[in-house]
Amino acid sequence: MQSSEIEETNITLTEEERGVTADIQEAVNEPDRILPAIEFRDVHLSFDEKKILDGVSFTVRRGETKLILGRSGGGKSTTIRLILGLLKPDSGQILVDGEDITHYTEEEMMGVRQKMGMVFQEGALFDSLSVFENVAYRLQEQGVDEETCEKEVRRMLRFVDLEDAIDKMPSELSGGMRRRVGIARALVGDPTIVMFDEPTAGLDPPTARTICELAIKLRDLEDVSSIFVTHEMNNLEYLSSEYATVNEDGEVIFEMEGEKLCLINTEVIMFRDGKIIFSGKDEQLRKTGDPYINKFIRGK
Ligand SMILES: Nc1ncnc2c1ncn2[C@@H]1O[C@H](COP(=O)(O)OP(=O)(O)O)[C@@H](O)[C@H]1O
Ligand SMILES: [Mg+2]
Repeated sequence: MQSSEIEETNITLTEEERGVTADIQEAVNEPDRILPAIEFRDVHLSFDEKKILDGVSFTVRRGETKLILGRSGGGKSTTIRLILGLLKPDSGQILVDGEDITHYTEEEMMGVRQKMGMVFQEGALFDSLSVFENVAYRLQEQGVDEETCEKEVRRMLRFVDLEDAIDKMPSELSGGMRRRVGIARALVGDPTIVMFDEPTAGLDPPTARTICELAIKLRDLEDVSSIFVTHEMNNLEYLSSEYATVNEDGEVIFEMEGEKLCLINTEVIMFRDGKIIFSGKDEQLRKTGDPYINKFIRGK
């Protein structure tokens, strides 16, 4: 562009407009918001000649929940292990907060993992440790002092509504409670990225709903980016149609999206034979007309 053109397009801003422009500029410049939390670029991975991921690309934006659907053995857990750096792809790139971690060493990965929380299917608690000790584990390993540790553990247990269970042993808890303790443990250290691997598998519907509500709270009130692997369609429904907000009494409530479309920061991808066959919103998924997807939605 020539300098004369620049002069012609120059406009005079009021003091207020200049302020707003500066705010927008600041928001745009904030690197954390522009860079996706997670990005896969053309990732390939085979085990024993069998292609598990065949050119997978997707991004998880900051504050977004990406729901991953797909049949058993479809590479969902493998995707999570790649993000954690427990596996390396054959080719392609994996980025976390814009940082290319594809070839990171174990030592370099330790730093990256500190911003991640992981919720396993079975809650994966240590049975010989109390709820407090299970949740405190990571903090104690880091040598955090006792007082801070207790404060943090209580804060996390309050988030999952289990502060009263702090002195219990895992064997004294129901399946759903154990799962919630697993979530509290994953949230220690305030991870900005949380990965849920089939967190509701084997739970009754009301308990599964409670787990989904926790994921919604993280998404809407804590600005956490997450990956939520599931093959239960009601999880998809909760995470795509409800949002969390705080009412006048300071209580967390869940509201239906209703007509206020695009409010909910959840997107879905579906894997089939190592490829992503769908990427988009829940409503689009239900409208594709694709026989494979329709069968999956009907739970067949
Ligand atoms: N370390 C490994 N070595 C060989 N095969 C593996 C390994 N990990 C996973 N697989 C295979 O990769 C495929 C995808 O596994 P996984 O990601 O666990 O599927 P999902 O979580 O979608 O059910 C499965 O067929 C599984 O047996
Ligand atoms: Mg799995």
